[in-house]
Amino acid sequence: MALLPSMYIRDSADHVGEAVKLAGWVYNKTEKGKLVFIQLRDGTATIQCVVFKKNVSEEVFARAKELTQESSCYIHGTLRADERSSLGFELDVTDIEIVHLTQNYPITPKEHGTQFLMEHRHLWVRSAKQHALLRIRAQVIAAAQEYLNSEHFVRYDSPILTATAAEGTSDLFATEYFDLGNAYLAQTGQLYVESGMATFGRVYCFGPTFRAEKSKTRRHLTEFWMIEPEFAFADQDDNMELQENFVSYIVQRVLDRCEDDLKILERDTSKLENIVPPFPRISYDEAIEKIKEGVAAGATVAPDNAPLAPLEWGDDFGAPHETYLASLFDKPLFIYNYPTKVKAFYMQPAEGRPEVVRCADLIAPEGYGEIIGGSQRIHDAELLEARIREHGLDVADYQWYLDLRRYGSVPHSGFGMGIERCVAWLAGTRHIREAIPFPRQLYRIYP
Ligand code: 4AD
Ligand code: MG
Repeated sequence: MALLPSMYIRDSADHVGEAVKLAGWVYNKTEKGKLVFIQLRDGTATIQCVVFKKNVSEEVFARAKELTQESSCYIHGTLRADERSSLGFELDVTDIEIVHLTQNYPITPKEHGTQFLMEHRHLWVRSAKQHALLRIRAQVIAAAQEYLNSEHFVRYDSPILTATAAEGTSDLFATEYFDLGNAYLAQTGQLYVESGMATFGRVYCFGPTFRAEKSKTRRHLTEFWMIEPEFAFADQDDNMELQENFVSYIVQRVLDRCEDDLKILERDTSKLENIVPPFPRISYDEAIEKIKEGVAAGATVAPDNAPLAPLEWGDDFGAPHETYLASLFDKPLFIYNYPTKVKAFYMQPAEGRPEVVRCADLIAPEGYGEIIGGSQRIHDAELLEARIREHGLDVADYQWYLDLRRYGSVPHSGFGMGIERCVAWLAGTRHIREAIPFPRQLYRIYP
């Protein structure tokens, strides 16, 4: 005997008038005399199931009364269209089979503190808002891959255990690797997708990446998922064009496919609807000027209205600077050509201006911060080797990477988008810890 239900709640429109068998968990329950209302969720959606005493046997009515929050069960009944319900459908119950009767579910409809909820993350993910967030996450990932696949990018997976650093040595997680010394958890797949770039022309990797950053901000995780396209015969202008098309596609797909989820999250979608190419672009130099003007005018930065801190040319931006700059625009903002000394070793210097590199960060609107970091890569073997040395890295470890510049080198570019940062922005959630099922943070590894 198979265990599946006869249908999923999301497909209700196709089953009106039919006798159906649903399977799921009790989200909530209310009783009113001869009526029991069960909110049943099956993961695809939630439906109200109406148990009317006179329509069912005494045992079934007793079972309905016995059901508790998060009990698992099958509910049989007739599906009916109902305009008053948020789903548009209700179930008139004829039978109930209890699969597991839950006692004392820890997360009740009352308010709980974040600390408590994080400790119960394995259960918290069942709640409506978390469910909505994680559905949006799944759609962001699906849309990102759809877009790249349709543009001839081939998925090319990069290793997680690596021998070397790619994004600076200060935030590496190390682990012993048999007799071969230390291995490091990948901070990025980029160096490896560069080899795929010369194999397929256009590639991307997608997977978890790790940063042992001791930062406790709402934008940092120690384990996050990144999608990293890399393409041949492409400079930084081509790169920004790809990014704005890519991001716009994802936003429009999420608006299309996650309407209910965005509603549950009370997301103001009007701000997302106008996310279409082109995106504004300002150079790092211009950004510094705008910050200086802002400081002079006494600008403050949301959410706590702290005064904008002064910056000099050559400094990297802090999150408040990014938030301030982004607030001047209503679309994601490219800031390009950063000082060479604040960026990674592999970035191509700007022509005639070696103090800046051909890179850009893409800053989301509404204070969600950097969602993409990308650049044109150095394609000259000698220059790249010099950069590796300047950064105090061992050239012997990077011979394979230098080979990519020795055999059929081409100008190429790429970028990495952090999935959680993108999800937090689209879902409108301030802290990225809710944009992943099990966040890994400085003070959190359980559950
Ligand atoms: O700017 P990052 O460090 O760039 C790279 O790793 C490049 N190798 C990517 C490439 O060119 N292929 O990181 C890229 C993105 C950031 O814009 C951000 O969205 C996300 O990864 N990110 C993080 N997300 C969550 N927690 C962290 N600690 C993150 N660090 C970076
Ligand atoms: Mg970055």
